Amino acid sequence: MKILSVLFSAVLFSLSLSAQAGPLIIKYSHVVADSTPKGQAALKFKEVAERLLPGKVEVQVFPNSQLFGDGKEMEALLLGDVQILAPSLAKFGKYTKKVQIFDLPFLFDDIDAVGRFQNSDKGRELLTSMADKGIIGFGYIHNGMKQFSANKPLRTPADAKGLKFRIQASDVLEAQFKAVDANPQKIAFAEVYQALQSGVVDGAENPWANIYTKKFHEVQKYITESGHGVLDYMVIANDQWWNGLPDDVKKGLSEAMTESIAYGNKVAQDEDMAFRQKVIDDKKAKLIKLTKKERAQWRDAMKPVWTKFEADIGKDLIDAAVAANDKPAKHKKSEHKHSEKK
Ligand code: LMR
Repeated sequence: MKILSVLFSAVLFSLSLSAQAGPLIIKYSHVVADSTPKGQAALKFKEVAERLLPGKVEVQVFPNSQLFGDGKEMEALLLGDVQILAPSLAKFGKYTKKVQIFDLPFLFDDIDAVGRFQNSDKGRELLTSMADKGIIGFGYIHNGMKQFSANKPLRTPADAKGLKFRIQASDVLEAQFKAVDANPQKIAFAEVYQALQSGVVDGAENPWANIYTKKFHEVQKYITESGHGVLDYMVIANDQWWNGLPDDVKKGLSEAMTESIAYGNKVAQDEDMAFRQKVIDDKKAKLIKLTKKERAQWRDAMKPVWTKFEADIGKDLIDAAVAANDKPAKHKKSEHKHSEKK
């Protein structure tokens, strides 16, 4: 009898060991399509992590709000129900006021300026701005500059008056639309198509990749090429989970993270204009290009939002972002050389 029970315990022990010996499951959840920059980055992370750590980790990617949508995903991360997220920079307001900087309208001239700021010391400091909340940031992934869309043509700020716009959960974006007397409504990304289609809202703001992959151009009559703000991401994990990982796993995952972020940024750079062209080719929504004068009107109307959030964000940070609009001297020189050669 005694021998039997010893045997039984031994079997149980080895069963539990083999359960432990299985790969570590890492859930990476996001709300967009696989073909977008973030979707591609998540799949690259899986590929690289599983190649570098064979049998040790299994990365499960959940796109399109399949596992968690906006609103629930951050909570899930803190509870340990998901390990990696890459929320849009507009979705961190509850955890840090600093990251709100990315939502300030007309702050960055283009996506290269956004990249220069993100790679600067001040930009990189923001990756640890939620450390006290148990969240660590690994890096930024671009999606692209946002464009306005609506069921009526938006050329000047006066055209937006009284219209309802879907926004991400961001107080800055709320203020941005209020600045042109519009009606902002915070709605989760998974519900945007229906909100536009049913007329719950009249318009929205999105980068080209999201417009195309979620078919927003099929339920909006006009898209105004405004490039008035940026929609990028921070890749994050739960601090406690990350720091509890064995060193070799952490090393492999760090490498996978670096490679996947670089890959996502390359996709964003290569595909932004291709997504734009696909939207145009579909001929569902009419593209409106702003004249310099019209764009300046939007900028003048929306820029007071900066002052409103300056105390929360910090003037030093805003100044650093503005400075990132200057192209580095090296760039200018090589452009110059290039034109000399011609
Ligand atoms: C949105 O809610 O519009 C975006 O944050 C979605 C995304 O992740 O690109």
